[in-house]
Amino acid sequence: MQQEIDQLGPWFHNLHLPNGRQTAPNHTLGDFPAFKWAELAPYIPADLSGWEVLDIGCNAGFYSIELAKRGATVLGIDVDPHYLRQAAWAAKQFDLEDKIELKQMQVYDIARLDRQFDLIWYMGVLYHLRYPLLSLDILSQKCRKQMVFQTLTMPGEKTAEAPEDFDINDRKRMLAETWPKMAFIEKRMAGDPTNWWAPNHAAIEAMMRSCGFRVVEHPGHEMYILEVDEALRKKQQWNQSEYLSATGQDWQEAVQEKVKDKNVYMEGRDGRK
Ligand SMILES: C[S@@+](CC[C@H](N)C(=O)[O-])C[C@H]1O[C@@H](n2cnc3c(N)ncnc32)[C@H](O)[C@@H]1O
Repeated sequence: MQQEIDQLGPWFHNLHLPNGRQTAPNHTLGDFPAFKWAELAPYIPADLSGWEVLDIGCNAGFYSIELAKRGATVLGIDVDPHYLRQAAWAAKQFDLEDKIELKQMQVYDIARLDRQFDLIWYMGVLYHLRYPLLSLDILSQKCRKQMVFQTLTMPGEKTAEAPEDFDINDRKRMLAETWPKMAFIEKRMAGDPTNWWAPNHAAIEAMMRSCGFRVVEHPGHEMYILEVDEALRKKQQWNQSEYLSATGQDWQEAVQEKVKDKNVYMEGRDGRK
């Protein structure tokens, strides 16, 4: 068993296997991600029978396994075949192969998946993306009930009501601590060249609203439980053509809606009718 664990390494998830062994007992973050799960677990229904779950960036499958243990059927996706091999092996150890399906996919590929999910598990991936908002727009289209979200953040916990509008010369207000901001990481962070964006708390809430999600719980630092809000999601429909283009779909017909609204806005601005 230890030989198999070593052969499948290195491990980012410290799985506690049914026989008592662990896959990464000396993890630099501690007992990861068990300590994060301990914070989240009370917010997740104990019985997930009948729930369809999407675990994005499933890695070695720690969360897929915990959610499948609660009765969910899980689709775990990851870009990296190394982690998918670990997840497939781990699902077998827990006898959960029939509850956990694994696929090599990017989060953006979900746009072309003809499926909805009751729960989307979206932890530890957004800051690795170059197109983070696109991922959230895609996921709000595919979410029936809840999304559990975690990201690396930049400092700043304060929020304020977003202004309905503001003057083009009034840009200083964007420097306020409460303004939604996302820091761009051009090179490396902690030696890792795959980190791109670190939003503050206000930006997470604002981006989520803008993509059709409402924050319902904030179980711990950098962790959020969200629900789809139909009214918010509807508001974004005027921008459907960009979404369709970005996800490789026909957009020409949908752009009429956007152009029409834009023209109304421009007319109002210079006083012409
Ligand atoms: C920091 S780990 C987080 C793993 C796990 N979700 C967690 O929270 O413990 C990021 C994972 O996302 C995967 N990943 C990175 N970019 C991705 C993408 N575009 N689509 C899907 N998975 C991605 C990585 O291979 C890695 O397994």
